[in-house]
Formats: sequence, structure tokens, C-alpha cells
Amino acid sequence: MRNKITIIGAGNVGATAAHWAASRRLGDIVLLDVVEGVPQGKALDLLQAGPVDGFSGRIAGSNDYADSAGSDVVIITAGLARKPGMSRDDLLAKNVAIVKACAENAASHSPNAVLIVVTNPIDAMVYTAFKVSGFPKNRVVGMAGVLDSARYRTFLAEALGVAPRDVNAMVMGIHGDNMLPLVRLANVAGIPVTDLLDQDKLDAIVKRTQHGGAEIVNHLKTGSAFYTPGLAAVEMAEAILTDSKRVLPCAAYVEGEFGFSGCFLGVPVVLGSGGVERIVEFALTGEEKQALAESETAVRKQMAATGL
Ligand code: NAI
Ligand code: 2OP
Repeated sequence: MRNKITIIGAGNVGATAAHWAASRRLGDIVLLDVVEGVPQGKALDLLQAGPVDGFSGRIAGSNDYADSAGSDVVIITAGLARKPGMSRDDLLAKNVAIVKACAENAASHSPNAVLIVVTNPIDAMVYTAFKVSGFPKNRVVGMAGVLDSARYRTFLAEALGVAPRDVNAMVMGIHGDNMLPLVRLANVAGIPVTDLLDQDKLDAIVKRTQHGGAEIVNHLKTGSAFYTPGLAAVEMAEAILTDSKRVLPCAAYVEGEFGFSGCFLGVPVVLGSGGVERIVEFALTGEEKQALAESETAVRKQMAATGL
């Protein structure tokens, strides 16, 4: 039997995630939205790429959660996106109601699924999905670290003139200005970037990464990034569906790891068929710990604003 993936929200990120999921042969895809016609039209368009691209699964658009029943993975992208001048926090009040409805419906129709939350502000929205779904912590995870790390790796690769895939680098913490691109551990094929780039250059790359989402919003003016966000969510879904034990930075529920408890925080996790199978803890420097503590403070402020 093929895997089943439901993507809630057929907007820019959701439709792009469906595209990546189909091209990676992840399984049958249901694209679901409140707007009638949009998920149906986009799903049909994507389905018709099958003969050319070579995939053969089902791709259906729907406004009815019954069609999502029995999904293995549900990706929640429904909600408002940022426009210039808006922070991710500005989206909170509207998106909390949307994510609540999506997570409740997803949980009742797909009780064994892993929920991957993308909607912003992500660290509060993944907490919302966790609270209302009643799912265990390992089956609710937020996407941000894969995207932020991809941006970080891209900027490092550009500066070094090397292939992006050979740059290993990770961003931890909140998906916001306080995120923590780890410089100490960033490397190119094992060679520390601190040996290859001077401090000013590294500082500029860290800053650009922290504002990577806003840089794109300022170009687009009508919305936010979607190609890499869609792929990042699919990268996580693939790790879960193939039980590959990928180690990816994700927003996971911490219970003592890195000294934090009771919130979702961007940390490296092992992703497999159990969802977040474990958080990979390692020793941080005092400065890194302090930066992560600032992320945690910002996350807790967002969590309080959800009223949950
Ligand atoms: P979009 O506006 O293109 O699409 C959002 C879709 O959600 C629309 O089609 C809308 O009809 C649908 N929707 C609204 N309420 C719904 C509901 N109750 N049930 C089902 N569908 C519903 O926005 P885009 O660009 O796709 O972004 C989606 C979200 O993802 C935003 O909150 C954005 O900030 C967030 N995002 C998060 C990222 C991350 O790293 N975590 C990266 C990029 C975007
Ligand atoms: C991003 O980082 C808007 O959170 C979204 O592109």
C-alpha cells in the first residue's frame, strides 16, 4: 500500500510541497483547503504531470477532511503569510484559530499520523497543534530549521564558491530574529568554516540567515517564501515515511534537553517512522546556550499569546 500524505492549505507553500512530494514519489497526496476549487484545480494540474515526470500515485484536491482519512503524514500550511513590514508574530492571532481547526480535524481523521506544522509563527503554531490534537510529542513537529539551515548553507556555499550540498551547517532555536546559526560547528566536507572565512564575513552570513525570510518578503511584497519551505517540509515527511533516521533541525517538544522544558524549540532530531524519535543533545558553549535561552524566552511569549 502506498503512503498517504495530506497537505492542508493549497496556497504557495502547500501546493509547492505537493509538487515536491509528487516528484519525490512520497505516495498518494491529498491537497486540502477551505477555498472551493483551488485544491481541486491545483491537484488536477499536478496529477497531469504524472505522464511526463513518471509518478503514478493519486493526487486529489478536496475541501473535506473525510478525503484525508488515514493519512500517514499531515503537513499543515494553512494560514496567513507575511507581507512587508509584518513580523511572523503579527500572524499569531489569526493563524492560531486556523491551525486549531486544522489540527483537530487532522487528528480525528488520521489518528496515527505525524503532524508537520509549517504555519507561522511556527514555534507557537506547532505548540497549538500539539495541544489540540492530543497527539504524543513525538508525532507533532514543526518545520523551520531545515529551511533556515538551507539558507545558511546556501550563503556559506556562495561565499566559499563550493557546492551547497558539501556545506554542513545547522540553525537552532526559534524561527525568528533570535535564531541561532551555529558557526562553531559549520563545516565544508569536515573543514571548519572558521578556518576558511574571516569573522566579518561569518557575522554577515549569520545576520543574513536570521533575516532570510524577510529578505524574500521584501522582494515578493505580496507574500513569503515557498519553494524551499515546501521542500523542507517534504524532506521531513520523506524521512518519516521512509524511516530513514535523518538528523534534521526541527521544532520539537523539549523535556530537559539543552536545559529547556515544556516548549517547542529548534533542535536536531532523529526523524523516522515514529516521528521525532529522539532529540540529539550535545554540549553548547556558554554563548550558544545564552542565545538558545533568548530563543526560548521569545517562544514562551508566543506560546502565552495562543491562550492555550
Ligand atoms: P498562502 O496564503 O499562499 O496559502 C495559505 C492557504 O491556507 C490558502 O490557500 C488559504 O485558503 C488556506 N487556508 C486558510 N485557512 C484555512 C483553513 N482553515 N483550512 C484549510 N486551509 C486554509 O500562504 P503560504 O505562502 O502558503 O504560507 C502558509 C503559511 O506558512 C504562512 O503562515 C507562512 O507564514 C508559513 N510559512 C512558514 C514557514 C516556516 O519556515 N515555518 C516558511 C514559509 C511559510
Ligand atoms: C520564511 O522564513 C516566512 O517564515 C517564512 O520564509
